[in-house]
Amino acid sequence: MKQNNEVRVDAASKIAGIEKYTRDLPIKNALIAGTVRSSKAHARIESISYDKNYDWSKVTILSAKEVKNNYVAIIKNDMPYLADKEVNYFGEPILLLAAENEKILLEAKKHIMIEYKELAAATTLKVSIDRNRAEDVFEEILLENGEGNKTFSTAYEIIEDIFETGFQEHVYLEPQAVVAIPDGNTIHIKGSMQCPYYVQNAMNELFKGTEIKVDVTQIMTGGAFGGKEDFPSLICGHVALLARKTGRPVILSYNREEDIRFTTKRHPSKIHAKAVVNSDGKILALDMDILLNSGAYATLSPVVLARAVLTSFGCYKIPNVRIHGRAIKTNISPCGAFRGFGGPQSLFAIEMLIEKVAQTLKIPVWEIKKANMLSLGDTLPTGQPIDYSYGLPKCVEKILESSEYEKKYKEFKKYNENESDQTNILKGIGISLAVHGCGFTGVGENRIKAIAEMELLPDGKVLVKTANTEMGQGVDTAYKIIVSEKLHLPFDDIIIEEKNTSKVPNSGPTVASRSTMIVGKLLLDNCERILDVLSLKDLEFSLQDFKEAAQQYFKTHDTLIVQEEYKHPDFISFDEKTYKGYGYPVYSWSANVAEVEIDLTSYQVEVKKFYTANDVGKAINKQQSEGQIQGGIIQGIGYAVYEALCIKDGEVQNRGFRDYIIPTIQDIPEMYVDIVEDTYFNGPYGAKALGELPFVGAAPAVASAVSFAIGKTATKIPLTPEVIATLIENSNYEY
Ligand code: MTE
Ligand code: MOS
Repeated sequence: MKQNNEVRVDAASKIAGIEKYTRDLPIKNALIAGTVRSSKAHARIESISYDKNYDWSKVTILSAKEVKNNYVAIIKNDMPYLADKEVNYFGEPILLLAAENEKILLEAKKHIMIEYKELAAATTLKVSIDRNRAEDVFEEILLENGEGNKTFSTAYEIIEDIFETGFQEHVYLEPQAVVAIPDGNTIHIKGSMQCPYYVQNAMNELFKGTEIKVDVTQIMTGGAFGGKEDFPSLICGHVALLARKTGRPVILSYNREEDIRFTTKRHPSKIHAKAVVNSDGKILALDMDILLNSGAYATLSPVVLARAVLTSFGCYKIPNVRIHGRAIKTNISPCGAFRGFGGPQSLFAIEMLIEKVAQTLKIPVWEIKKANMLSLGDTLPTGQPIDYSYGLPKCVEKILESSEYEKKYKEFKKYNENESDQTNILKGIGISLAVHGCGFTGVGENRIKAIAEMELLPDGKVLVKTANTEMGQGVDTAYKIIVSEKLHLPFDDIIIEEKNTSKVPNSGPTVASRSTMIVGKLLLDNCERILDVLSLKDLEFSLQDFKEAAQQYFKTHDTLIVQEEYKHPDFISFDEKTYKGYGYPVYSWSANVAEVEIDLTSYQVEVKKFYTANDVGKAINKQQSEGQIQGGIIQGIGYAVYEALCIKDGEVQNRGFRDYIIPTIQDIPEMYVDIVEDTYFNGPYGAKALGELPFVGAAPAVASAVSFAIGKTATKIPLTPEVIATLIENSNYEY
């Protein structure tokens, strides 16, 4: 494959501001929807009453009583569209309203009275764990290998700590927005979303047993990062129900405050990790108890937990493990998918545990990582051999060189000893190794059976039909490159079909960084089929040859539509009870070095430089791959030092970017991005998953640098000044 460095096909229109997002759609006669929410974290709804003196003729009200199949279909189907008798979190939708404009909605809300009988609420992980009820465990996973934790009795040293990560809000540029347009017995749904078929399936369940048919179209999506994976199913249900009731189009678009307070977040985690080590820091055994704070409903938590468990041993060869994971119910808004999907939480824990091992044994942390790092041919605790596409050693080589890690490690130590008293600044340099399992966990892809379709058009252009959505990650451009390489067609001759469930087959959700590796490969296979039909397979041919062959074909045929269905290579199997086997068909790897400075007056952490090398199998588009890597690192820096969600009695206190702080252009370090290409035999041109990987290693690298600077293990992120103060001063401040 030639080196591609294409400008993204959606770049110009987005930069020019002419792209139409959901709330820009010119929809005639549309009503605006609003949500009446719970003001309690856990309560019985005693009564709902409406002010008799208010003119209700302008407002449509919809309650749970009118929703027959009142559950959002995803995994456990436990979350209702509208709370009926009981509310389980602050902000849970109770009623839907529709009116001509926002002003009427705001006024109407003031005239609705809801009485509650409060029930005991567990608004923190601690309360939920302490009350120890089986029904609060949404999912439990145990992975054991070797002698489990029996080696503990013969150990040289047991090193342990509790590691905690916080919430994270997605902060996509475009808040959640969807619209439903009724048309006889059909409802057309359009909106900002990652997975049109998730919404389609949820709507099929919601309207099961009725006349209603639904089709779903993803339109221009202003970022998602996992936040538009399952959540759109809930609000699409809301607008669909209102559209059915009113017979008019209904639009629901959250403002930023609603979006921050009431949509999904990254699961906070609390991980008790123990390592059994010998005197030179070789890890003999690992024991981890992973707790994820899931919020009030299970939604995606079982699969987020699965990835957390399968990422918990990081990039290391550890012969004996016992990994115990639980996803725990609490009375807060349900947590969901977010770039990395459970991986960042447990990777933080293993990387910081090694930091602690290094500090305890007084051995430089890189020495410990090097001594334990996987080598090609080693086996993971799941029994999966890492015997192909293992580019981590190359990534390590690259960053050690580009960052001059070992030299700076000594320099910074000296600086902190000799100069920090005068400058009032501590310097730190940190290193992380990261892994991301590509695509769905286990044999998930065999269950999804992704289908991708391609159609050769009479003019020799091709139509690409997948359900994989563009949300800024550049999938449309990646698909054009894959097809263009194979068929020698210019970009303009490759048309990406609208992501409408009545036009494209179900190629699975746009999650788990799977779109290029899994679905892109299907497209490549479809190209082969087309070439085969045109008798061009395995031949050298030009654009001219292709067009002529197409012309020839259509003299005797009307259509040429080809389809491919995905299945894992036969040797890939996974046991969901024991968690043994191939957790993922292949892994992407990264090595990262962060340099930080800590101001000893303000305890503020500043990330000065960031070096990262990522093995993505093959960069289908170099520029775009670098963009994904830079974006992931910046988001990871936010996770590591700035982003703190504050919840009091179950109520999110943050209202906007005044009090939910994300990195701005001022906080972005100098970045050095390297791409390593250790190809995967079953990816298109060797490509593996790239979208989430860069995020996973970012926070641990920063926390490693902070640990270096302060001489203590950074056990908790975000590393806000309060946390840094606590770590440095060892006070008992409850952060
Ligand atoms: N990049 C941008 N610009 N916007 C996004 O919403 N989502 C991330 C990642 N990169 C996202 C992004 C997440 S969570 C995933 S799973 C992948 O992109 C999905 O896209 P892919 O399958 O094309 O990698
Ligand atoms: Mo990404 S969290 O898998 O949408």
